Amino acid sequence: MKMQDKVLSLHKPKKRTIAITGGKGGTGKSTIAVNLAAIFANRGEKVLLVDADLGMSDLNLMLGVAPTHSVFDLVHGKPLESILVEAHDIYLLPALNGSYQLANLEGAVRAKVLGSIEKARADFDTIIIDTSAGLNANSIDFTALASEVVLVTTPAPASLADAYACLKVLSSYKGLVRAYVLPNCTSSEDEAKYSFSQLRTLADKFLLSVSLKMLPPISFDHEFNIASGAGVPMINYKPDARSTRALQQVARALDANAQSGSFRQRIHSNVK
Ligand SMILES: Nc1ncnc2c1ncn2[C@@H]1O[C@H](COP(=O)(O)OP(=O)(O)O)[C@@H](O)[C@H]1O
Ligand SMILES: [Mg+2]
Repeated sequence: MKMQDKVLSLHKPKKRTIAITGGKGGTGKSTIAVNLAAIFANRGEKVLLVDADLGMSDLNLMLGVAPTHSVFDLVHGKPLESILVEAHDIYLLPALNGSYQLANLEGAVRAKVLGSIEKARADFDTIIIDTSAGLNANSIDFTALASEVVLVTTPAPASLADAYACLKVLSSYKGLVRAYVLPNCTSSEDEAKYSFSQLRTLADKFLLSVSLKMLPPISFDHEFNIASGAGVPMINYKPDARSTRALQQVARALDANAQSGSFRQRIHSNVK
């Protein structure tokens, strides 16, 4: 553990659950989820990473593991601890790739899975939930478990539109009042700020009750694909890369806000 991380771990925030969401597929949700999990784990936190893209999971590949169990076993009564697989000091709750059944969990079954994750709060410092694309019940209900919601968007207009759609649904169905916006695959700081301002304008116009805060942006970097193909989080694969530093800035911004308690949202009351 580096000195700076040791200092940070002395001041680590209270238990938290961070949902990584955003509406559109391919914006970098899983990439951000894996790397944030790795940053927190590297500094000694006990981190649970939930692959909530239940039917199209790929966190196991990004972490270079081949789990034998998945959420599917949780649904069938296996205890959570026996399903988790450890990789890069992160505890992964794996899903399945190509499972129609998991992708379309019926309400009561989903509630059982959500209940197990809620219970796991006692055993972990940080829970990171990587959600699926789209406005399905799985992704909305998993997001609603979180104390902090991070919307990942690229500057592409379709991605911003989907991030807005996601906000709208979380606001109207789950009472979301605050969310972070993380511009990913940006080509400049100006582009990131512009993307954020577009989203904020839409939110201000139609969703007066949701306040948004921009996290430090992540530039486009083809090495993300290489790290992911190697099954290693970017922050471990290239510890000195610019993208690694950007990811660490994101983690620090989350920490700073969590410590001040200024930006936690409260929506986990009405999970069905
Ligand atoms: N900042 C980035 N620069 C370049 N490629 C990225 C970046 N973030 C993610 N990617 C790549 O984009 C693709 C989609 O990312 P992924 O995290 O799977 O998105 P999502 O989970 O939102 O569908 C992956 O190939 C990933 O390596
Ligand atoms: Mg994903």
